[in-house]
Amino acid sequence: MINEIKQEILKDIEIYKNNSDDHYDFWNEHIKYVYKEAISLSELYKADRTIVELGALLHDIALIKQVGDRKDHHTNGAKLAKDILEKYNCPKEIIEKVIGCVLNHRSCKNATNLEELCVCDADILAHFDNIPMLFNSAFNRNKVKLNEVRTWMKECFEKDYNDLSDKTRELFKLRYKQICEIVLGE
Ligand SMILES: [Fe+2]
Ligand SMILES: [Fe+2]
Repeated sequence: MINEIKQEILKDIEIYKNNSDDHYDFWNEHIKYVYKEAISLSELYKADRTIVELGALLHDIALIKQVGDRKDHHTNGAKLAKDILEKYNCPKEIIEKVIGCVLNHRSCKNATNLEELCVCDADILAHFDNIPMLFNSAFNRNKVKLNEVRTWMKECFEKDYNDLSDKTRELFKLRYKQICEIVLGE
């Protein structure tokens, strides 16, 4: 079932890519990193891997399918995820937990269980894994000037780092320091 859902999401991502101005590839720029980090956190924190995998794959489904406003993509995503999971006859108790992962993925402070926490943290760690995307976001999407880019990126990294759950923040302390050293020259 996970693979079938992944294939369905990849098709939606292809449509999104072809319709977006900068040909944004949601899989290669974001979801694949969230998926990878979420799996590794699920092993570390002994969370349910199936729920975490499905949560990671579906957490931004409303953005991918371009349903509703960005600010509501967690609530719209929860509805879309429910429809997709029901279509694949996913057991009800799994559907409910995956919906929780989608609904509460915007902040680790909202996570109500380990699976939701893995998806939230992975959503942030995906940014640490894809620094080239942050440059695209700075220069192309937000038109940040070269002399302001360090401050802009520092704020992004700091916000991400502070948004991590306490235990994941502790685990990624060195990585964060290395990013600041290498990318920001600190
Ligand atoms: Fe999101
Ligand atoms: Fe995301």
